[in-house]
Amino acid sequence: MLEAKELTKKYKAVTAVNQVSLVLNKGESVGLLGPNGAGKSTTISMLSTLLPPSSGQVFFEGNDALKQPQKLRKVLGVVPQEIALYEELSAYENLKFFGKVYGLKGERLATRIDEVLELIGLTERKKEALKTYSGGMKRRINIGVTLLHEPEVLIMDEPTVGIDPQSRNYILEMIRNLNKSQNITVLYTSHYMEEVEKLCDRIYIMDHGDIIADGTNEELKGILSEEETIQIGVSQLSPSFEEALSGHQAISKVTEDGSGYKVIAPKGTDLLGDIFELARSTGTHIVNLAVLTPTLEDVFLHLTGRTLRD
Ligand SMILES: Nc1ncnc2c1ncn2[C@@H]1O[C@H](COP(=O)(O)OP(=O)(O)O)[C@@H](O)[C@H]1O
Ligand SMILES: [Mg+2]
Repeated sequence: MLEAKELTKKYKAVTAVNQVSLVLNKGESVGLLGPNGAGKSTTISMLSTLLPPSSGQVFFEGNDALKQPQKLRKVLGVVPQEIALYEELSAYENLKFFGKVYGLKGERLATRIDEVLELIGLTERKKEALKTYSGGMKRRINIGVTLLHEPEVLIMDEPTVGIDPQSRNYILEMIRNLNKSQNITVLYTSHYMEEVEKLCDRIYIMDHGDIIADGTNEELKGILSEEETIQIGVSQLSPSFEEALSGHQAISKVTEDGSGYKVIAPKGTDLLGDIFELARSTGTHIVNLAVLTPTLEDVFLHLTGRTLRD
């Protein structure tokens, strides 16, 4: 339905996005996961024809969307990262204002405002000025504005950053509902792997401007099917223990996580005995040890040697 082909964006010396190709099929919920600065916002700006790429193409239903953006823009809803709303106006008035900007009017505008207020769960408070709202509620209005013109494709840029957990869950549930019940195609951008894991049928992982992996949750975790992650909790962090772990020939990666270390090693290497031995020889006290089920975080760690939060 919507396809990016080798999109590249260069800012002088910085290549923000490098030859990124991705596909959204109708009705899919697709995740774009990557740490801050990975190039997610730049990618979706180009995909939604708001930012001209340095090179590459965008196709919407087979047509060149950069040459003819109107067809795509009509069915597209983009929720930007920043909230741009009128603080002095009520939720209702904000929706009315932006609905008019989208070209809605009269009966249809009134109906859509009511429907959207229901969707974002703010019908009860629609008359209050936005300045009395929490950050999460403003974010919901932000999404609501984008839903007014009934987009077929919804692109969201980190919609849950910096808001309370309750609003976060509300938004995630709402997006799932829009995708599953109303068949809206979703591209969801985030650096929270749990959200993408929960919400998305297919995931692209991005880092330093590149797509470094893509697939379903299971496929991505399949990258780790040959490996396991061992979590070692220690009473006190110990650089010499960390160094000893890193030096172990079967261990491919060691990261510190505050209360201990996370180790990636090939499956079936029977490391546990060695780990205790290394702890003993460096005077480190192990308080717990667990072999973890891999997460997307581990996939990212495996591919880049860093965590998503680095
Ligand atoms: N207008 C711009 N001028 C120069 N550099 C930019 C501009 N926009 C983004 N960048 C750089 O491009 C990279 C990717 O940014 P961005 O797409 O915002 O990443 P993300 O959304 O994943 O955090 C970053 O290194 C950022 O500093
Ligand atoms: Mg961004």
